[in-house]
Amino acid sequence: TRRAVLAGSGVLALGGGAAAIFGAGGRAPVVAGTDTDNLVLKAGKTSAPLAGENAEVPVWGYNGSVPGPEIRIRQGQAFEAMLDNGLDEETTIHWHGVRVPNAMDGVPHLTQPPVEPRDSFRYAFTPQDAGTFWYHPHQRSFEQVGRGLYGPLIIEEADPPQVDRDLVWMLDDWRLNDQGQISGGFGSRHDAMMAGRIGNTITINGKPSAPLIARPNERIRLRLVNAANARIFGLDFGQLDPVVIALDGQPVEPHRLTDPLLLGPAMRADLIIDLNDPTEHSIRDVFYEGLEYDLSAVICKGEPIRGARLPEPAPLPSNPLPEPRLPSAKRHQILFGGGMMGMMSGDGGSMMSRNRSGSGMMEGRMGGSGMMSGGMMGWTVNGVSATGHVHDPIITVARGETLLLDMSNDTAWWHPIHLHGHSFRVLSRNGRPTRYREWQDTVLMAPQERVEIAFVADNPGDWMFHCHILEHQAAGMMATIRVN
Ligand code: C2O
Ligand code: CU
Repeated sequence: TRRAVLAGSGVLALGGGAAAIFGAGGRAPVVAGTDTDNLVLKAGKTSAPLAGENAEVPVWGYNGSVPGPEIRIRQGQAFEAMLDNGLDEETTIHWHGVRVPNAMDGVPHLTQPPVEPRDSFRYAFTPQDAGTFWYHPHQRSFEQVGRGLYGPLIIEEADPPQVDRDLVWMLDDWRLNDQGQISGGFGSRHDAMMAGRIGNTITINGKPSAPLIARPNERIRLRLVNAANARIFGLDFGQLDPVVIALDGQPVEPHRLTDPLLLGPAMRADLIIDLNDPTEHSIRDVFYEGLEYDLSAVICKGEPIRGARLPEPAPLPSNPLPEPRLPSAKRHQILFGGGMMGMMSGDGGSMMSRNRSGSGMMEGRMGGSGMMSGGMMGWTVNGVSATGHVHDPIITVARGETLLLDMSNDTAWWHPIHLHGHSFRVLSRNGRPTRYREWQDTVLMAPQERVEIAFVADNPGDWMFHCHILEHQAAGMMATIRVN
């Protein structure tokens, strides 16, 4: 099995033959480790079958594919990778969700100089946390990620739970034109002031979804990563009834879903899916009201893989995250403002069947920077619309202090809010404690929602704090938190 292979020397580059182990939807992983030859991630132009095998579309990707190589490494083992820039513009790699040293965080001008065309940069860090992470550029990410530059980074537990298959699904959403090519207009102000660049073509691992075929009594670990610029997924698994074991890579008390799984841009979830009796299932995306669709079929058939079902999944071993000390926490208010007001059209945006805030879409008050011409506003964090990656920190904190951010979404739109260099606990939503106090690095806020998060600021440096709807980020919805 793959686990046995990994348990071997620990440093193996698996070729195409490994695909068979992963089955439908699986990808051959790259396994890197301390004494492996440097893993090279070459960013460049390539093509991908976004709309089917016979419809290769020009994209940007790492090592000629979208997603880039599935990197699987071991928790606590030194990792390094060389970024080669084969693009015609500057780029970087950000290791989303990984608590890396600041200099390895991949934020141009803030943590490193941007990597020029034909230049390279060596990233090296030792991952502290096991889990499902991903990598992507942080330079003009609304276009670079939007054209396909991203890949999965799986940090394996020392003793992973027993599963028959460990699958990664990177979800993406593309805007293709009538010729089946990627539409231009990245970063348009229209997209930026509304829901971001929502597309018309959904892919799983850079391809249209294909049915996932499984056998009775099979157990699958499904790692979902939302790599879309702007699309929020609300996944309804029906009778598949998965158990959520991790969110944003961090273990969570295993639980079954009572509502659709909300996955904003950059967010991840690890699910355990036990297939029982032979039948067909469908995973549906129900986020945008009136635009529900089948994301993927899951077909259970054939001989049972084992005589009986496996027992309920156990919790994953916890990661070494410092527990926030709430009584002594430094509390800060964060107000997200801006965006288009008072013009709701049928293209999605904040339409959602389960609007937990319950407030009307039109009722948002003007926050921050005030009206700009044509009824447009920039996005703001505490009244400031930041451009570029270098700004005065909104918060400066001494290393080791607990920060409690009391965040209010004073806009008519959804925002997945991401903090670099740390994971935080989500303490409350609209004043109600969360059930699982989940660790996240990206928290999805509904229109008018208030969310409290807390974390120990133990990683020194200047850290980006921004909306992961990449058009919102580019239009000012970002800030910096400094840990001294
Ligand atoms: Cu996934 Cu600041 O990024
Ligand atoms: Cu946003």
